[in-house]
Amino acid sequence: MARETWATRMGFILAAVGSAVGLGNIWRFPFITGQEGGGAFLLLYLLFVVLIGFPAILVEFVIGRYTELNPVGAIRELGSGAWNYLGWLFVVTGFVTLSYYSVVAGWFLRYTLIGVTDGYALAGPEEATALYGSVTTGLDSLLFHAVFMALVIGIIAAGVRRGIEVGVKVMVPAIIVVLVGLAAYAFTLDAAGAAYAYYLTPDFGYLAANWTSILPAAAGQAFFTLSLGMGVMITYASYLGEDRNLATDAGIIAALDTLIAVIVGFVVFPFLFAAGIEPGGPGPSAIFVSLTSAFTGIPGGRIIGIVFFAMVGIAALSSAISILEVLVSYLIDEFDVERVPASVAIGVAVFLLGVPVTIDLIFLGLYDNLAGGVLLVLGSLLLALFVGWVIPDVARNELEKGIGSLGGLGTAWIWIVRIPIVIVVLVSLYLGVVGYVDFLTGGFAEWLAAR
Ligand code: TRP
Repeated sequence: MARETWATRMGFILAAVGSAVGLGNIWRFPFITGQEGGGAFLLLYLLFVVLIGFPAILVEFVIGRYTELNPVGAIRELGSGAWNYLGWLFVVTGFVTLSYYSVVAGWFLRYTLIGVTDGYALAGPEEATALYGSVTTGLDSLLFHAVFMALVIGIIAAGVRRGIEVGVKVMVPAIIVVLVGLAAYAFTLDAAGAAYAYYLTPDFGYLAANWTSILPAAAGQAFFTLSLGMGVMITYASYLGEDRNLATDAGIIAALDTLIAVIVGFVVFPFLFAAGIEPGGPGPSAIFVSLTSAFTGIPGGRIIGIVFFAMVGIAALSSAISILEVLVSYLIDEFDVERVPASVAIGVAVFLLGVPVTIDLIFLGLYDNLAGGVLLVLGSLLLALFVGWVIPDVARNELEKGIGSLGGLGTAWIWIVRIPIVIVVLVSLYLGVVGYVDFLTGGFAEWLAAR
């Protein structure tokens, strides 16, 4: 059977942008930035996107376009021996990541509905935090997790790629427009000045004292937000029928994705400061608490809120699809399973894995720190080693198709992947593992003991 290819030339970019832009930008970025000290984190994150994220997108692109296979099959075709297990790492990462991603996406659906039934008029930050608490735990959270996973399964089972392409074309610009509007409103708040100072001024003393947590957090966030480290971009590039300029595509994807995250910061921090909330305090509730206060204060806030939460839900859908597609394409290509049963079986398993997160938020930390701090970083490290040291010639040739020899840029790219990226990512991984072990033996052990 001939493999499907993208319906339109733009289809690939749109799908890749659809994968990249999601909860990573709107939910994860602002709360990690807040936890890691603001400007110092922002600086490191931006450096990582440019110096590591962009070349790492190309790493996945060349593997996918060259082999035209799912990530597991692709690595097996190109590598041998222990490299074959890399595909398994992707599968595990995909399961963990999608399971809690879907729970958080469900919260956005719930907030959309709250706007429809009640609006966002809240007395203050305490009430906003209480609302967040009621949305995120218990039956409501479980129900909306189920609804979201059902949507993801439905889309992947039907294989409606065209629907995704159209959806992204409308949604991504719309999200940018609403975010810019909210950022402009946030600019009028008295607290905006202090918030900008926090967000935009890197405190180098703080960075020096805390780099062991900021560095792995920035690396993890860069990989998470660009959908790297588990073969999503391999899968999408495997559907590329023609030779095109992969570097331009990677640049567009990274730039749009980063732009959206950075604007979210211009919305979230002024509202947190205005509410007198320490930016490091709210954790995963940051976006919800700041947005509900924003929508409470603006004329037409209820409508804007409904539209915005729904749009983020759709952006999350186009990201979640990319994760399930990796798992499903693996089952289809490798075991000859039909698309529909494969989608349903894996989707249900992912749903079940996410259930603990709807019961207690400690599991959100357990899953998110594992995925963002360890698994995605490990996956990206191994991919960089693989392309840089195992298949450098194949990779360079593949990159140069559709670009030309680039005056040696292809060779420079291989060397960047081979040494600096490997070193920085290795250090991040080490620190990420240490941090995760700390969490397991600290916060998580205490939580267990209190049971
Ligand atoms: N990048 C997406 C976001 O920011 C999430 C995502 C999609 C992802 N596919 C991924 C994260 C693969 C890690 C790996 O919301």
